[in-house]
Amino acid sequence: MDDVEAVVLVGGKGTRLRPLTLAAAKPMLPTAGVPFLAHLLSRIRAAGVRRVVLGTSYLAETFEAGFGDGAALDLELIYVTEEQPLGTGGGIRNVADHLTAETVMVFNGDVLAGTDLTAVVDTHRRTDADVTLHLVRVQNPRAFGCVPTDAEGRVQAFLEKTEDPPTDQINAGCYVFRRKVIDQIPAGRVVSVERDTFPGLLAEGARVWGHVDAAYWRDLGTPGDLVHGSADLVRGIAPSAALPGPVGDRLVLEGAELAPDALVFGGTTVGRGVRIGPGARVEGAMLFDGAVVGAGALVRHSIVGFGAQVHEGAVLVDSVVGDRAVVGAQCELRHGARVWPGVTLPPHGVRFSPDV
Ligand code: GTP
Repeated sequence: MDDVEAVVLVGGKGTRLRPLTLAAAKPMLPTAGVPFLAHLLSRIRAAGVRRVVLGTSYLAETFEAGFGDGAALDLELIYVTEEQPLGTGGGIRNVADHLTAETVMVFNGDVLAGTDLTAVVDTHRRTDADVTLHLVRVQNPRAFGCVPTDAEGRVQAFLEKTEDPPTDQINAGCYVFRRKVIDQIPAGRVVSVERDTFPGLLAEGARVWGHVDAAYWRDLGTPGDLVHGSADLVRGIAPSAALPGPVGDRLVLEGAELAPDALVFGGTTVGRGVRIGPGARVEGAMLFDGAVVGAGALVRHSIVGFGAQVHEGAVLVDSVVGDRAVVGAQCELRHGARVWPGVTLPPHGVRFSPDV
């Protein structure tokens, strides 16, 4: 794979993950102890690829600040920024001048997957395809656009979400491109690879192939997926060489203080300097650096932002607390509630609110 280059698209605004993405780009959010992108980059490196071009836009400078020239990951990292976001296809076209290889793997920067990347490239070469898409079989294809293939694996259509999908194969957000196909994407304007480029290639009769598997796959675009993906990384269900500690029921980073009787499990990440009080129960959660969970609080499948506080007896289920926000004692937040950064909820101040 040393003759293959990678492009990772990291320019999206990550609106579904607000308020976490108001201050950090989605691929830079701490996920099982490191920025999510570190997991993806280490997987790309492990497959034998050395040169990676990052297509940035939103909070572009934070990527180079985090990863530099890539030497720490044994990668050569190149950053190419869109002044205005150009969409997924426009983002790929925008990095074309920086590519040197004939075979280019393109990744959405927010997908956690266990697929054998070498096998995807092998399919591409064996079928002499113009573009090969990684397609993954999922239990509920209704939530995604689906991509039927014929008996040889040739893609037949790109279908929007439907109640009655004809296949359980969905676009997994990882592609192999023949270089010349990238050059044909219109430059300098917004293009969606899913809605414009791929349907256009099919209409022209280009060789578009699918590499289908049922490996681990999760798009970390929503708080629920991010928190479950993070727990899968901590528990080793989604393997990653970038995990900064042993696989286990929890990952505790430096300087964290856990009361001896606090129950912390289910793939929870406890960030640097976090404090968890006596009798607290923290299950499958993400506690960013400096967060505080008070005595007797319950935090389940929720994300607590940098320096945020969940006071004693509060309940947080399937919810997000923004950076430096305070959830007062005995408050109860469930069902996708989100507290905006810096907001303070008074004690007993809220129960079951969907948005605060
Ligand atoms: P939402 O706003 O929550 O939908 O998130 P998003 O902006 O990240 O969009 P989406 O999840 O559909 O994006 C899929 C991948 O493409 C992510 O890794 C994004 O960072 C990336 N992406 C989306 N739009 C652009 C863009 O305009 N330019 C670049 N370079 N990357 C993009």
